[in-house]
Amino acid sequence: MELSQLAGRRIFVTGAGGFIGVYLCRALLGCGAEVHGISRKEQVGSRDDIRWWRGDLADMPGIRKIITTIKPDIIFHLASHVAGSRDLRLVWPTFQSNLVSTVNLLTIASEIGCQRIILTGSLEEPESDSGDTVPCSPYAAAKGASSSYARMFHALYQTPVVMARLFMVYGPGQQDVSKLIPYVTLSLLNKQSPKLGSGQRRIDWVFVEDVVAGLIAAAQTPNIEGRVIDLGSGALVSIRTIVQQLADQIDPQIELMWGALPDRPMEQTRVANISRTYEAMGWTPTTSLAVGLERTVDWYREHGGSLHQKTEGHCVL
Ligand SMILES: NC(=O)c1ccc[n+]([C@@H]2O[C@H](COP(=O)([O-])OP(=O)(O)OC[C@H]3O[C@@H](n4cnc5c(N)ncnc54)[C@H](OP(=O)(O)O)[C@@H]3O)[C@@H](O)[C@H]2O)c1
Repeated sequence: MELSQLAGRRIFVTGAGGFIGVYLCRALLGCGAEVHGISRKEQVGSRDDIRWWRGDLADMPGIRKIITTIKPDIIFHLASHVAGSRDLRLVWPTFQSNLVSTVNLLTIASEIGCQRIILTGSLEEPESDSGDTVPCSPYAAAKGASSSYARMFHALYQTPVVMARLFMVYGPGQQDVSKLIPYVTLSLLNKQSPKLGSGQRRIDWVFVEDVVAGLIAAAQTPNIEGRVIDLGSGALVSIRTIVQQLADQIDPQIELMWGALPDRPMEQTRVANISRTYEAMGWTPTTSLAVGLERTVDWYREHGGSLHQKTEGHCVL
């Protein structure tokens, strides 16, 4: 991948302060891009080389003003209300922060023109080619509808959008301690027994740096507009295996409370088609699960103290 192609390019990153956004901005800055990030919160004193804008992507007039001022060459759309729970209370925030935000961004990008817009879809969204699949959560419904809009924008308005479908992303720095790997790692480091479901679900886990390399490839590869590109490892590993590996690495004596929580209904099992991704843009993941988990645990050992209190309650993945 030719990172130098991005030098001097004006790039707008939504969700720039989130888990994956931080890595992506760092990589873009590293190759000399002019990076603009947006957040609903004030980002004082953090990563000065990012030009921060403050705004809510669901607010169309506010967002239009910001994007028409920046006039980005490339947009990475990572902002999202990321929560897989089935709770009714998630319907509205996921509709606003995922679907409305995406439609706003696609509309503005189509109006003003940009070279590429990369959306971040999810392994949770229903398969687009099977019409009778029911989304398993408000998040899945919003992500699925966002992809549907993106395909329409591409077909009708030639919007140069690429839909990167991310599988389960993990790695150092993930602050959302309700996600499985941060929750279990911090519990074990603090000598507490993690409360878990059956652990049967099999998931495609992918390391955050690999995902960022894939997103950057999706911004630069010619002739992939309108396509869905899987960014995953191409392998399924059960939650039970992941948790056991973390326990072996941290403290095998701590009891793992399997079955303490109910499994969520309608869980999907989906593996990334990485050979198709390789054919499309020459990307393949390079970090093994063993190395990725080791680097993740090392990070929480060093930085996890301040996150610990947030692990109370239980993991929702
Ligand atoms: N992590 C995974 O395993 C995974 C898997 C599949 C897909 N994805 C997708 O990848 C993307 C990035 O995920 P992540 O894990 O980095 O998420 P994250 O850490 O939760 O970050 C998401 C960011 O979105 C911003 N945001 C949410 N609603 C917004 C709004 N209305 N206006 C402006 N900003 C808003 C938040 O920023 P502020 O609070 O600063 O405004 C937050 O920092 C998401 O689209 C997610 O759905 C992630």
